[in-house]
Amino acid sequence: MSIRNQAGRTLAAPTQAAGWFPASWRAHTAHQQPVYPDPAALAAAEAKMRSSPPLVFAGEARSLTSALGRVSAGKAFLLQGGDCAESFGEFHANLIRDTFRTILQMAVVMTFGAGMPVVKLGRMAGQFAKPRSSDSETIGAETLPSYRGDIINGPAFTAADRTPDPARMREAYYQSAVTLNLLRAFAQGGFADLHRVHQWNRDFVANSPLGPRYEDIARRIDESLAFMSACGLSNQPALTETDFWTSHEALLLPYEEALTRTDSLTGRSYACSAHMLWIGERTRQPDGAHVEFLRGVGNPIGMKVGPTMKPDELLALCRTLNPDNIPGRLTLITRMGAAKLSEVLPGLLRAAKAEGLNLVWCCDPMHGNTVKASSGYKTRDFGAILAELRAFFAAHRAEATHAGGIHVEMTGKDVTECTGGAQAIGDDDLAARYDTLCDPRLNGAQALELAFLVAEELTAARRAPA
Ligand code: PEP
Ligand code: CO
Repeated sequence: MSIRNQAGRTLAAPTQAAGWFPASWRAHTAHQQPVYPDPAALAAAEAKMRSSPPLVFAGEARSLTSALGRVSAGKAFLLQGGDCAESFGEFHANLIRDTFRTILQMAVVMTFGAGMPVVKLGRMAGQFAKPRSSDSETIGAETLPSYRGDIINGPAFTAADRTPDPARMREAYYQSAVTLNLLRAFAQGGFADLHRVHQWNRDFVANSPLGPRYEDIARRIDESLAFMSACGLSNQPALTETDFWTSHEALLLPYEEALTRTDSLTGRSYACSAHMLWIGERTRQPDGAHVEFLRGVGNPIGMKVGPTMKPDELLALCRTLNPDNIPGRLTLITRMGAAKLSEVLPGLLRAAKAEGLNLVWCCDPMHGNTVKASSGYKTRDFGAILAELRAFFAAHRAEATHAGGIHVEMTGKDVTECTGGAQAIGDDDLAARYDTLCDPRLNGAQALELAFLVAEELTAARRAPA
């Protein structure tokens, strides 16, 4: 079934997937799930979630599918960013504001570079569950369950914290609701005004050691804004408000199932914990529970694609997850490291193109570049991140496919978690403000610097002969 929006455009609303229902994943192997010691407490938490209001509604998810459909058609670009893991301990309006603000700043620069709209998608308001390489952690003589994100257990190395507690789902839900409420207010209430956002970028350029390099783009944006203002366009909603969507890894399936709702307009099921959900690299088994769950919800969905992915396997997963080949339904988020990406991505691009698949190709330059610094911290180097992005754009240029977006772990805060960048953070600086509970994030300045460099790539892609 499809429905029409006011402009008469057909919106994507595929029919319910055969054999699927919100709990059908339970017949499949679910990796990376916690073992809850108290089944009655789990059932009570799930019941509470089932009777709670949805955090997003289906019409919004369909609008995001349409926006991502424009990305898959090469007419828009995707910026997805936010924390590796949100936390209960670090929950503050200023943090939400600063990350949102940094994403807006990045988007302005990238919009200019790409000459096309940028779809803004936060890893926010629900990014609480983490896959781990080991089920347990041992320190000295004690072995405890690994920390799996605040929706599941606590980070401290104590039995009390590490025991999975289903009541945490409720706290994650409320924190998501409050975060989303603030994001909606910021997006529509004047905070996102393009002139303000550009002024913040101006301040960044003035203060960055690499400022002169970015001066040209900043000056051209100034001129464009002055021109629009002269044309009487300053107060248009397109310049004073923005669309902003939320996403997270759909890892904790009892939570996602319990927040699934039937859309009264289309009769279709939607995961109502966020607008977009993705499947992680460790849970994308073709016959696994996560693929089963996400194939049936109407939301736009993402899937991480690591360096071991084979073309046939990818095509099979695309058939399962997007059988109707709806543009914007499926975003493939590659995360390989630059060297592997140059080896593996071209074959995947060719296979998908030969099948005529409508896909958003998005580059996560973070998860293939995690290393241990000499100071012992888990880090990522700005140069390696940039190298993967450049390899991604080069592969798409060579295959004449659309490099559709970037997916970054970042925060608006001035943390010291990734090395390099204009601030030249070294291994020995990491200890100063290493706040992440999970993977290292770009700080606000590094994230914006990356956006300027991506804008250069986007401009080059635009000017390359077709
Ligand atoms: C993540 O995005 O935080 C993550 C765990 O990524 P991946 O599934 O690609 O390893
Ligand atoms: Co991560």
